[in-house]
Amino acid sequence: MAYLLNDESFHKMTDYIYRKTGIFLEVDKHFDKLAKYIDARAKVINADSFRKYFYTLRFEDKDGTEFQELMNAVTVNETYFYREKEQFEVLVDRILPELHAVKSRTAPIRILCAPCSTGEEPYSVILHLLEEARLIEERDIEVVGIDIDSTVIAKAKLGKYSERSIHAIPAGALAKYFKKRTLGFDLIDDLVGTVDFKVANIFDKTQMRQLGKFDVIFSRNMLIYFDDASRKEVVMTFYDMVNVGGYVLLGHAEYMSRITSVFKAKKIDSTLIYQK
Ligand SMILES: C[S@@+](CC[C@H](N)C(=O)[O-])C[C@H]1O[C@@H](n2cnc3c(N)ncnc32)[C@H](O)[C@@H]1O
Repeated sequence: MAYLLNDESFHKMTDYIYRKTGIFLEVDKHFDKLAKYIDARAKVINADSFRKYFYTLRFEDKDGTEFQELMNAVTVNETYFYREKEQFEVLVDRILPELHAVKSRTAPIRILCAPCSTGEEPYSVILHLLEEARLIEERDIEVVGIDIDSTVIAKAKLGKYSERSIHAIPAGALAKYFKKRTLGFDLIDDLVGTVDFKVANIFDKTQMRQLGKFDVIFSRNMLIYFDDASRKEVVMTFYDMVNVGGYVLLGHAEYMSRITSVFKAKKIDSTLIYQK
């Protein structure tokens, strides 16, 4: 079957996606998925050629719906609770006590998960705060989660999770903070809404500025989809967003040293963290 997309237009599309989002799609891995998506979307908006679809996306998408649909189709949202859990332990055992000691008691400690996908990561932060940090009784801690994909943010707000999502949560915490349903697990009502979820593109400077400053930024398993130039841009955005003395934590396969030396690297046990 012939698609509306061909090799030449694939490159036009992927250049556009890359410039807007840093996401780097390759012909061998992504052609079929993108071509099927464009055929389906073109039908919805009555575009009978790639040219018409692409024109609509770039010039007629005043409210951003078409761009959002595209984002929801091209992102990889894989995540689960307690993924790379040593980092949450370093957060509650080392980072938060250090920040608590130096930061004014009246100011909240702010933690950002960028990106958060369906919410497992920021809720893992909350569960660790509840299980292991006495700090939440002493001061406000705010947790914010952002993602470019509006479907995952909508799911995150519901707090309903699959068996696969919760598989790494210790039995005690699972019993305390979730209700078992026929299909999956729901966060208990008291926890739904404890994370502030928003749709935002890490490359959109206005959206990022509106989030304010943070003391800790988790950015795990997103930079791996970017090239070095985009990674550097994101890390410099984090540099602007993090308070002096605050920290950035990346995924296990992501290293700041290859990108920039603006942050100070610290190794705690086997976990690398980066301080401003
Ligand atoms: C693999 S998930 C990682 C989720 C979580 N941090 C973890 O490690 O489990 C990657 C997420 O990055 C998001 N993403 C990709 N490009 C983005 C961008 N430019 N701005 C914000 N989020 C983005 C995707 O929508 C996807 O949900």
